[in-house]
Amino acid sequence: MWIESAILQDFRNYTQQRVDFSPHLNLILGDNGEGKTNLLEALFLLSTTRSHRTNQDKDLVRFGEQFYYVGCKVNKKNHTERIEVGYSLERRQKIAKLSGVPLARLSELIGVLNVVLFSPEDLELVKGSPGGRRRFLDIFLSQLRRGYVGELQQYNKVMAQRNDCLRLIQSRRFAEDVLCSWDEQYAKLAVSISNIRRQMMEDFAPQFQAFAQRISGRENLTVKYSESLAGMDEISLLRRLETLRPGEIVRGTTSLGPHRDDILFLIDGRQASLYASQGQQRTAVLALKLAELSYLQHATGEAPVLLLDDVFSELDEIRKEALVGVISGEVQSFVTGTRDTDLNLMQGTGNPMKRFVVEQGRVM
Ligand SMILES: Nc1ncnc2c1ncn2[C@@H]1O[C@H](COP(=O)(O)OP(=O)(O)OP(=O)(O)O)[C@@H](O)[C@H]1O
Ligand SMILES: [Mg+2]
Repeated sequence: MWIESAILQDFRNYTQQRVDFSPHLNLILGDNGEGKTNLLEALFLLSTTRSHRTNQDKDLVRFGEQFYYVGCKVNKKNHTERIEVGYSLERRQKIAKLSGVPLARLSELIGVLNVVLFSPEDLELVKGSPGGRRRFLDIFLSQLRRGYVGELQQYNKVMAQRNDCLRLIQSRRFAEDVLCSWDEQYAKLAVSISNIRRQMMEDFAPQFQAFAQRISGRENLTVKYSESLAGMDEISLLRRLETLRPGEIVRGTTSLGPHRDDILFLIDGRQASLYASQGQQRTAVLALKLAELSYLQHATGEAPVLLLDDVFSELDEIRKEALVGVISGEVQSFVTGTRDTDLNLMQGTGNPMKRFVVEQGRVM
């Protein structure tokens, strides 16, 4: 799939902008702070309904304005689709439309436009907190499977209610047996989410390993799903929750479930979060993104769009070449860079490309 065009209105530092893209390579050039990342952020939002930089839509509204609007036209294998997202500051409301039809839920948008984003913050993925890795997993899965987001939202809701209940028992406002009614729903959702994640990761791990091998043949880099439930079914989880109950009541939090999961990166069997060098972390993240792209492409039958924000300046020649290999293929890509970014490698891809220069929220 590829994005034919996009419109940004009062989004970040853009006032009113329309851009027509190339189905292949799009180079977005400009000095620092001119609006390159903002443009990719708009495309990411049209894919996932959220920004990759903030949880607050108010940050996205151009200073002094009341709402933002972003839209794009996506060209898919057999048809095109129009995606629109708008947010009103006053009403604190975000709405999405698909080819003109308002959606009852924002999450229905996910999976229409699939993107893989690689930005400098991702380089923290290996050594950073598990939350970032779970987020990666969830965005990946939500693009892969319709219904995953809904189930995850349900899980989070039930867990929050269960936690409220634990605190009320702690303060003796609830009797302990109230918890049982939450436990069953909770266990069902927890096991289901874990199963989905486990199956996907088992499938994904060999592809990750192969990409890592291609980028850096020196060490053996693998990835593993580290699962809080460790293969438990609903019945064994319920039993486990019973034994954990006194501790959970004291802490007021649920101690077992997919919200505690992690992705483990291993270098020759050792935990990368503890031992990886800068270069090894870069290899791991790059392999993760390239494998995600290839996996999405094969599973959905269409290549996702690749968004590369500022990563060229962060990678060495070998890793750059691995990226260029992908960009030369059928994938539509957006690559940002400043005047100083060495983009020579790109010129050799042979694919037609479009160059854009961004200046103070204007694309030229
Ligand atoms: N809500 C907003 N309203 C108006 N301007 C904003 C808003 N949010 C951010 N900006 C402005 O957008 C600019 C940053 O844009 P962006 O992050 O896209 O820069 P960039 O071109 O990617 O720069 P760099 O090369 O440093 O990464 C800043 O000047 C910032 O002040
Ligand atoms: Mg930027």
